[in-house]
Amino acid sequence: MNDSNYIDKNKIISRQGGALAGSLIIPGDKSISHRALILASLSIGETEITGLLEGEDVLRTADALRGLGVIITKESDAKWKVNGVGIGGLSNSEGVIELGNSGTSARLLTGVLAGYGFQSILTGDSSLIARPMDRVINPLRQMGAMFHSNSEKLPLTIIGSDNLMPLNYELPVASAQVKSAILLAGLHAPGETTIIEPKITRDHTERMLKHFGADIQLEDKKIGRLIKVKGQPDLKPSPIIIPSDPSSAAFPTVAATLVSESEVIMPRVCINPTRMGFYTTLSEMGASIKWINKRTEAGEPIADLIVKSSLLNGTEVPADRAPLMIDEYPVLAVAAACAKGKTIFKGIGELRHKESDRVSAIADGLKKSGVRVEESEEELIIYGDHMPPEGGNKIFVSLDHRIAMSFLVLGLVSKQPISIDDGRSIETSFPNFVGLMRSIGANIVTDK
Ligand code: S3P
Repeated sequence: MNDSNYIDKNKIISRQGGALAGSLIIPGDKSISHRALILASLSIGETEITGLLEGEDVLRTADALRGLGVIITKESDAKWKVNGVGIGGLSNSEGVIELGNSGTSARLLTGVLAGYGFQSILTGDSSLIARPMDRVINPLRQMGAMFHSNSEKLPLTIIGSDNLMPLNYELPVASAQVKSAILLAGLHAPGETTIIEPKITRDHTERMLKHFGADIQLEDKKIGRLIKVKGQPDLKPSPIIIPSDPSSAAFPTVAATLVSESEVIMPRVCINPTRMGFYTTLSEMGASIKWINKRTEAGEPIADLIVKSSLLNGTEVPADRAPLMIDEYPVLAVAAACAKGKTIFKGIGELRHKESDRVSAIADGLKKSGVRVEESEEELIIYGDHMPPEGGNKIFVSLDHRIAMSFLVLGLVSKQPISIDDGRSIETSFPNFVGLMRSIGANIVTDK
């Protein structure tokens, strides 16, 4: 996404309307889609992927892999084929690899490229180049890769190594991207790479490595989870069906909860326990959330989600739940603003390193919308009063898709409409968000 001509051309407005009703097919899971493209590229032969998220972030990963010599083709809607070249089979990309807004592409591809002796340069948009990369650079340096950058951020030059060493590493931050970067680099190294994960984060890389036949072992110990992967496996192509993204489903979930007399059904949503913190919390607050037809597809648990409107109470979200709901705080904050009483988010400092500083973005946006909020480095306190907030304001989303969608959800219940200055970032994770929300009755319009 090009962030020139930023103001107003891409404004979106949401306002109160009738009840929300119907069935919504939520696009494919973003995390799983990135991993499907990457692991299929590193396997030997053809993998068919069904339900790939065709959002800008995932398309960045696909383009980067194409530039590195992988043939990736779209067969039909959300159906893709990848002709994997095997671990070690990628070739030097010509030119700079442009990753747009996508932190997952940047961190995971850094792990992949650490295992190649050639030079690669990664860059991204104004949001991505502000995000920390030292968290992946540090462990990958220990494995033998070299990096050059200005203050350990993008643009980043990677000079990988054809002789990476396996690593034994305890994650200092709860980050699935860092864990995955190390696991992907570990595929190149002879012997076993071991990661200690004190706080469990999303485990899609581990599940998909298993799906492709890698030797990966997980052990839960007192110090956390031990993840061991044997290097230099032959990854075997295996069809992948990608479930709907629970992080995207969170937006219509909060909308259907808050707009009275609503009932929305979302089939095939991923219910991996490492992604369920938001749904647990919203249920504790009093939401009507039902999961039916639980089953497993391509190594991931899924179910159909039914949400009905209900009144919410404030709650305290414990710090140890943060890794299980890290992307859902902005929309949970909207729910909290409409709940009865105080909600406290604890231990949320990591949110300051996302597409924007989300702690401040949530606090500023809610305050502008008439909600009382207290912000500290690691905490947010939101005072709900069971009434719709005032609204009537404009939110500057700073290239942050989840801030954009969250405040559009708030506009569906606030007394006055809420507008966002620029909705283009929504395309990174939830293509056709506006169209889908309108299809269930949401009063959201683009204002071109
Ligand atoms: C992701 C991990 C999380 C999450 C991001 C996707 C992934 O980031 O916020 O949207 O796919 O691994 P961190 O690893 O920085 O917590």
